[in-house]
Amino acid sequence: MKALILVGGFGTRLRPLTLSVPKPLVEFANKPMILHQIEALKAIGVNEVVLAINYQPEVMLNFLKEFEAKLGIKITCSQETEPLGTAGPLALARDKLIDDSGEPFFVLNSDVISEYPLKEMIEFHKSHGGEASIMVTKVDEPSKYGVVVTDESTGKVEKFVEKPKLFVGNKINAGIYLLNPSVLDRIELRPTSIEKEVFPKIAAEKQLYAMVLPGFWMDIGQPRDYITGLRLYLDSLRKRSSSRLATGPHIVGNVLVDESAKIGEGCLIGPDVAIGPGCVVESGVRLSRCTVMRGVRIKKHACISGSIIGWHSTVGQWARVENMTILGEDVHVCDEIYSNGGVVLPHKEIKSSILKPEIVM
Ligand code: GDD
Ligand code: MG
Repeated sequence: MKALILVGGFGTRLRPLTLSVPKPLVEFANKPMILHQIEALKAIGVNEVVLAINYQPEVMLNFLKEFEAKLGIKITCSQETEPLGTAGPLALARDKLIDDSGEPFFVLNSDVISEYPLKEMIEFHKSHGGEASIMVTKVDEPSKYGVVVTDESTGKVEKFVEKPKLFVGNKINAGIYLLNPSVLDRIELRPTSIEKEVFPKIAAEKQLYAMVLPGFWMDIGQPRDYITGLRLYLDSLRKRSSSRLATGPHIVGNVLVDESAKIGEGCLIGPDVAIGPGCVVESGVRLSRCTVMRGVRIKKHACISGSIIGWHSTVGQWARVENMTILGEDVHVCDEIYSNGGVVLPHKEIKSSILKPEIVM
């Protein structure tokens, strides 16, 4: 079975992290986003993943070569010379997706995180006999997603409206599809949107079915959602394999700590924290609802909440970093600095406090 992951887009909403690596390689819960997906695909028997790329393909491929061997899955690349949107890349990769088996294939947005109930999706797809299945989930704020209106009893999609201005419903497209090869006959090789141009047509022909995704779901392509997504992911990890979470008197709630990270005396860590490889957290540090990426040093008595600390950065002693502060790669926050929602570009030194949310260039 095959799968295609849509890996394009510039990831602008996740800057400054995406100034250092393409969005799918930004770590989420100590693992590049895209690996969560590739592992889930592998687990249900997918043997070839096609990455639809239009940006920094060398970086992606170099990185994934290593995992091809480790995971025992074939990873190939289908490279666009111009961004083809969310449907055009399927037409471009047509020959890679179709084989004699006539089997359906998966398509995934690269920035969604869930428990990936892909086995259930295959069963669902077989049961309705339509041309395409999409996974849907309920959200409070549907306007920033593709909204899907279905017949409750059969799951048949009556309407698909991408980013509606007016309320149509609260069930949204989760960015996980299972498509028959015939769907490719509907897509032209040009920049085109699967959400705006393909799904509405398949729905009109009553061939599109939606399965309500069991468990949690989040599009982690924006900082606020990334931080919420980590909470949901760690909650789910607690239920599935709690032994991977940290324990001890200095831990509160769900915390993931890489085994190579060092944590000093008298810290209080959690809830909803991920600490990456090689990090050094000095004594008396307080961390909550945050991600600390590989190689970061957090000095004594610093306090970080609701923030993301990019690779190899340092946070000075007694510093206070909060309210959706995002530090890019290799940022140095001096001692006793306060950051309230600062978004700091890579390689900067922060010598004076950031009092209100702003971008520091
Ligand atoms: N190869 C390629 N080329 N990939 C692309 C391109 C392109 O030109 N443009 C976007 N992508 C990829 C992105 O990297 C992402 O994985 C996926 O397509 C969706 O693009 P986003 O930019 O993340 O879209 P969105 O989050 O606003 O909306 C989409 O996802 C929602 C769920 O998270 C839509 O599919 C919505 O309907 C959906 O609800
Ligand atoms: Mg997205």
